[in-house]
Amino acid sequence: MRFKDKKTQWENILIKDLKSFIALVIYMGVLKCFKLTDYWKRSDLYSLPYPSRIMSGRKFLNICSALHISDPKVDAENDKKKGTSEYDRLCKIKPLYQDIRDACRASFHPFQNISIDERMVASKARNGLKQYMKNKPTKWGYKLFVLADSLCAYTWDFFIYQGKANSEETKGISYDSVMRLANEKLLGSGYKLFVDNFYTSPKLFRDLLQKKIWACGTIRANRIGHSKTQAPRGNIRWFREDDLLFVEWKDKRDVLMCSTFHKAFNGDSIKRNVKGADGVWALQDFPVPAAVLDYNKHMGGVDLSDALIGYYTVLHKTKKWYRSFFYHFVDIAVVNAFILHQQMAKVNNQKPLTQKAFREALVAELVEAGSSKTHYITHYTAQKHPVPSTDSHLPKYIQQDSTLGRRKCKVCCSKTPVMCATCQVNLCFVPKRDCYSKWHERVDEESE
Ligand SMILES: *[C@@H]1O[C@H](CO)[C@@H](O)[C@H](O)[C@H]1NC(C)=O
Repeated sequence: MRFKDKKTQWENILIKDLKSFIALVIYMGVLKCFKLTDYWKRSDLYSLPYPSRIMSGRKFLNICSALHISDPKVDAENDKKKGTSEYDRLCKIKPLYQDIRDACRASFHPFQNISIDERMVASKARNGLKQYMKNKPTKWGYKLFVLADSLCAYTWDFFIYQGKANSEETKGISYDSVMRLANEKLLGSGYKLFVDNFYTSPKLFRDLLQKKIWACGTIRANRIGHSKTQAPRGNIRWFREDDLLFVEWKDKRDVLMCSTFHKAFNGDSIKRNVKGADGVWALQDFPVPAAVLDYNKHMGGVDLSDALIGYYTVLHKTKKWYRSFFYHFVDIAVVNAFILHQQMAKVNNQKPLTQKAFREALVAELVEAGSSKTHYITHYTAQKHPVPSTDSHLPKYIQQDSTLGRRKCKVCCSKTPVMCATCQVNLCFVPKRDCYSKWHERVDEESE
């Protein structure tokens, strides 16, 4: 890549410049300014020494506006095919798109439980690829189909939705996207896949079972010709059709599930606050199908990875759609790397860095790699975040029976059975609400 110098000359940039550039892009997600130029402003209010030490503002902005991730010659060839079926809408992101997916799949293998869901990537760019989804936090943007690990939220594979395709798409986008992502040749068999009612269908679940991938999901009533009944809360009805179990559960609303690996009822129960005959609200036990409990536990992988990306999302100010993807790829790479760091810390019985500290360390290391003094390595992580041995924070249950000892979470005020033994504070610790980490990130910030 080259960048334009003083409107007249093009100057080549080196790999190390690109490393510095990416370091700054990540830095800007941790330390947010309103405008890009603010990072190099000399006025009292700003005067941030760090960015200008890494790269001049002019060079940074030039790289920003010259950033391409495809070969211009290939693009030009592709542009000639516009309007034909040969035209590739994703040509401008192609080599990196493929590389990042390959890297995601190669660097980690999911545990047993996985989920597939949509992710929306916000963008200011105008492009026909943009989609609208009313029940996502980001309503307008690019739609990605994502396969994530349920336990740690690692993005294992994804692809970009290109709108309704033509001939080769025969079984509908929900069926096709699952079949494309749950690739048993790469993934292997024995997985338990969780999906919501956009995807669940008897045909899909049967075909997954052929590949020895088990599935569980909510299902729309019309997919099985289901009709409403007036049953009391906690009521469970079910039927089987060869390998498929369909179960209906009365909660506040009707919940319909389909599964290829559950029994209808395992004797589980769930607590619900209900108004008794005497008008008093009280907790009461209701029977609940195992499929519902497992679904709630394992469906959140993609949402959690979205949340992890959302906290410190890298700079995204661009009007070009392919640059939006470049920055999102950086986001995926950083969050996956952070998740791997967490997993490795777990194996080694160490306390992982918070995501913020991880990003800070990553910026410092990239800057180091991008500077010419490569022989000089700062032990940034070791200095700043020594692994605490005596005063480590560990989650524990408030009471042994996790359904009884529920208290208000300090962060989000929901009920939680978990507390931090060191802070003596009640905190949620479930995939959808990791208040435990949020709380400790805050504590870390205050003590720095
Ligand atoms: C996957 O989910 C099932 C059902 O909740 C659970 O029994 C199993 O332990 C999970 N596997 C892993 C590796 O977490």
